[in-house]
Amino acid sequence: MRLPYRSIDKKNVLLRRENQKNNINHKAMKRILIVGASGQIGSELTPAFRKIYGSDNVVASDLIYPLRPELADAGPSVKIDATKAQDIADAVKKFNIDTIFNLAAILSAKAELNPMLGWNVGIGALLNCLEVAREYNTAVFTPSSIGAFGPETPHDGTPQDTIQRPKTIYGVTKVTGELLSDYYHKRFGVDTRSVRFPGIISNVTLPGGGTTDYAVEIYYAAIKEGKFTCPLKEGTLMDMMYMPDAIHAICQLMEADPSKLIHRNSFNITAMSFGPETIYAEIKKHIPDFTMTYDVDPLKQGIADSWPNYMDDSAARSEWNWKPEYDLQSMTVDMLKVLKERFNK
Ligand code: SER
Repeated sequence: MRLPYRSIDKKNVLLRRENQKNNINHKAMKRILIVGASGQIGSELTPAFRKIYGSDNVVASDLIYPLRPELADAGPSVKIDATKAQDIADAVKKFNIDTIFNLAAILSAKAELNPMLGWNVGIGALLNCLEVAREYNTAVFTPSSIGAFGPETPHDGTPQDTIQRPKTIYGVTKVTGELLSDYYHKRFGVDTRSVRFPGIISNVTLPGGGTTDYAVEIYYAAIKEGKFTCPLKEGTLMDMMYMPDAIHAICQLMEADPSKLIHRNSFNITAMSFGPETIYAEIKKHIPDFTMTYDVDPLKQGIADSWPNYMDDSAARSEWNWKPEYDLQSMTVDMLKVLKERFNK
């Protein structure tokens, strides 16, 4: 198979458009491929999906191979370099995949240090997944982000459909990803869906090089050292979400009735919005001796200032019943409990 950019089979496209109109293309996910299974989202999405869809039906893949034992031992796995379309196509064929989760990305602050890498991973992987999806008739989920917005975007109650002129390479890849995913849906009938994730707070795999990472690191620092140096200044509001809600959102959107979806790529979703001083105060309720000082990182601060303070996620709520479970209080209780146990504190 020559990939990417195979010539277009017109009959196939027309048939898919017809299927889409009649809503018979939609099926619940049965055979799932997770690209980037070792990352922050993949390392929790993989076991969660294995519970829901059956271990044998969820194939974990990553560039770094073999995968960690907890991912490798619990179900099928394969090495995939997402910048190589053939790797993805081979896995889709071999495992008879119907849905691809494209989680390969370089986060915002890290990508600023190597923009070409940010573009090549973000867009290379996406285009390859879309081409394979067109060829093998699979669905594709790709996360977008609050990073898809920029300084000109309304920051308070950021609308679903609004100006998107990001100033980071990460944001440029996310907007491009949204456009390409919508294009493949409209042009070829590929079932593409996506959410604009806020900062995701989690306790299995640390995020690497994101602007919202401080909201994860602060919990580890509170438990391990009792003190934290914050790279963002007081009053820097950003949307955030606890990982269980992020997993739930992915599953709910991918299982949603396509006839109800007015939007596809990509839905605003949020669970909470806070600045450093608020998360600090929340942790301090549980660890009274915890201290925090500020040492502002200009790169991260500039990025954070260009992103929404809080998004309006009413489209996701009305089109596929999005509703988060965790707020800052309940997330903090859970994060501290998990990390205390892990680090024997
Ligand atoms: N967590 C990401 C970042 O900070 C945003 O989607 O780069």
